[in-house]
Amino acid sequence: MSPIIHHHISSLRTALQPYRGQNNDKPDGLQRIALVPTMGNLHDGHLELVKIAKQHADIVVVSIFVNPTQFGVGEDFDSYPRTLDEDIAKLETVGTDYVFAPSIDEMYPVLPLPTSVLAGVITEQLCGQSRPGHFDGVGIVVSKLFNIVQPDVAVFGQKDYQQLAIIKQLVRHLSYPIEIIGAPIVRADDGLALSSRNQYLSKSERQTAPVLHQALQVLAQQLESGKMSQQAFERSLADTQTRMSDAGFTIDYLAVKTEALTPVVSDVADFNTGSTNVVILVAAWLGQARLLDNQLVTVTN
Ligand code: PAF
Repeated sequence: MSPIIHHHISSLRTALQPYRGQNNDKPDGLQRIALVPTMGNLHDGHLELVKIAKQHADIVVVSIFVNPTQFGVGEDFDSYPRTLDEDIAKLETVGTDYVFAPSIDEMYPVLPLPTSVLAGVITEQLCGQSRPGHFDGVGIVVSKLFNIVQPDVAVFGQKDYQQLAIIKQLVRHLSYPIEIIGAPIVRADDGLALSSRNQYLSKSERQTAPVLHQALQVLAQQLESGKMSQQAFERSLADTQTRMSDAGFTIDYLAVKTEALTPVVSDVADFNTGSTNVVILVAAWLGQARLLDNQLVTVTN
C-alpha cells in the first residue's frame, strides 16, 4: 500500500492521534509508532531502517526533509538530490504507513532559529569540528520531529555514528520517552557504506571508494589482535592514513575513540587493560564526495 503523505504538522498530528489509543490485540494494550527521519533520496540503507522500524512498532512514519540548518555555507544544500516521487515508490515496497514531507516554512517559523538544544564536546569533535553548526541543525530538526510525531521508537543509521551518539544523548538529557535504535551499516557488495552522497563519485572514484572500508578493517584487525605498544598504535594509524591518501582520499579525520565518543584514545594504555569497546571513525573526501565510515572493535587484553 502506498504511504499517506502529509506536508503539514497539524494534519500529521491529527492522522496519528487515533493510534495513540488502546490496541486490545497487544499485551500492553498500546500501539507503537516508529519514526525514521531522513533527508530523502532513499537507498537500500534507508529501506533497512524502515524494516527495522516495522519490527518495533505498529505504525511507521518516515520523514523526508532536506534540513537547511544542518548545512554550512558552501555545502551541498542546493544540490542535495530531491527525489520525493521515487522515494515514495521505494517506501511503498517496504510498507511505510505515513510520509511526512514538510516545506522549510512549515518546519521553521523563523530562520535562523535562535534556539539550540545541543552543546558540549560530543558535538564539537570529529564532524562537528569540520562542519561547525552541523549538529546544532541536526539537534533542532530531530527535536522538532520528535515533538511533531511523538514516536515510541526512532531508528537512525550507525553509519552516522556521531549523529547517533548525539541523538542518544539528546534523548537522555531532554527526557524524551523514545527508544533510539541504531541500525547496522548497509554496504554495497564491495564494502562501500551506502550513502546518498555516493552519487557524487565519478566512475573511477566509485571503484576506489571501498578502500575506505578496507583500510578500517585492516586497522580493526591490528587493534583486535591485542596488546600494542604506543609506537605500534601510532604506526598503525599512520599506515591507515597513508593507505587512504595513496588511494586518492583527502582525510578529514581518522580517530579511534571509546564507544561513547569520550576523548580520542591517544594512548594505548587507555585500552590495554581488560576488554574495551572502541570505534574507529573516518571522514574523507574523494572528489566531490565527503564519505563517512566507522568500525566497532573490541580490544581484548
Ligand atoms: O541522517 C540524516 O539523514 C539527517 O541528519 C537527519 C537525521 C534526517 C536529520 O536531518
